[in-house]
Amino acid sequence: MNEPSVDWAVGEVLRGVRIGPVAAGGHWVGRHEGRVVFVRHALEGELADVRLTGVAARHAFADAQTIADHSPHRVTPPCPVAAVCGGCDTQHVEAGYQREVKRQVVAEQMRGIAGLEWRGTVEQVLPAPLGWRRRMRYRRAGATWGLRAKASHEVVALPREGCLIATPGLARPDAVVLGETLLGADTADGVVWAEPGSDAVVRERALGREWRVRSDGFWQVHPQAPEVLAAAVMDGLAPASGERALDLYCGVGLFAGALVDAGVRVTGVEGGRDAVALARLNVPQARFHAGSVDRVLRRLRGGVDLVVLDPPRAGAGRAVMAEILRRGPRAVAYVSCDPATLARDLATASAQGYRVGSLRAFDLFPMTAHVECVAILHPDA
Ligand SMILES: C[S@@+](CC[C@H](N)C(=O)[O-])C[C@H]1O[C@@H](n2cnc3c(N)ncnc32)[C@H](O)[C@@H]1O
Repeated sequence: MNEPSVDWAVGEVLRGVRIGPVAAGGHWVGRHEGRVVFVRHALEGELADVRLTGVAARHAFADAQTIADHSPHRVTPPCPVAAVCGGCDTQHVEAGYQREVKRQVVAEQMRGIAGLEWRGTVEQVLPAPLGWRRRMRYRRAGATWGLRAKASHEVVALPREGCLIATPGLARPDAVVLGETLLGADTADGVVWAEPGSDAVVRERALGREWRVRSDGFWQVHPQAPEVLAAAVMDGLAPASGERALDLYCGVGLFAGALVDAGVRVTGVEGGRDAVALARLNVPQARFHAGSVDRVLRRLRGGVDLVVLDPPRAGAGRAVMAEILRRGPRAVAYVSCDPATLARDLATASAQGYRVGSLRAFDLFPMTAHVECVAILHPDA
């Protein structure tokens, strides 16, 4: 590989960078002077002048500034601040092609990390691509409210039309607060504004139940996500009445609720004590343990037929996967918001005698680089 003759600096513009395939995180892989440049707001096949936003020894990060050879999939972003706001990654990409881009990311992670050839598509979920986001975290700079720029504390002021991916009720902050952060939740009771740390509890409706969740606690952000993900989990697990299941990283008990309604005996595990208290109210038919999944799992006794796990972006990791699979469940549903850590954990599962029966991907975060996956694992025959 040719080493660059001079070092690059943040802010410098590289001219004529040829853009290659999409990478994870809303970047496309460009090459310049023998180094890889991960470029935001580009598309494969384009030729771009890019401004460096971060420089490491063997690669750099950049933002596309001027494009020649426009991709046929490039569109004018509907939001006037899309190029600088960190809330969206792919407003410059035609809506249908955004799902193709995510398909490429999932397929590449599965191939490269888990050695799996995935031939699925990323399923559209409505509403999309605008007006879907039911949780917002607005930041203030002086008198101006906005969202943070990518990987920065800088606040990008909201445009006149407000945030376009938020539900209409959350498109702009509508509360008077002294603090610098305002959380908005569009709930079954309407829009609720709160500051971080507020112990306000809101109600949500999904799966024919009512759910209580802290206004700053975890609840699926897309309006259809609870139904879509629960259906994928239940279809994949095909639970029988009387079976025993674990719902790991259970939040306020979403999947536990779906499973108890099918007659399954469920034990949920969640790190947030407030969420566990609410899960006990939301799904009184299940048992819940508060604590870190790795520690609680080691203490839990008894057999298990089914497992749902829905970890944060970091994934479950080797120790938790080993502890789950050691119990020999007949099926595992792994719900993931990061295909790279999912692929890593699927590779661990494969080494422990579990194969992927199905893998579905859902576009639950349109206009962003995020994609939600549900993998169903079974023991090798
Ligand atoms: C992606 S959310 C899923 C919540 C739930 N399944 C749902 O759909 O509403 C992940 C959850 O894992 C919890 N969590 C994160 N790390 C954890 C850990 N090490 N042990 C237990 N829970 C954890 C978080 O508090 C959060 O509620």
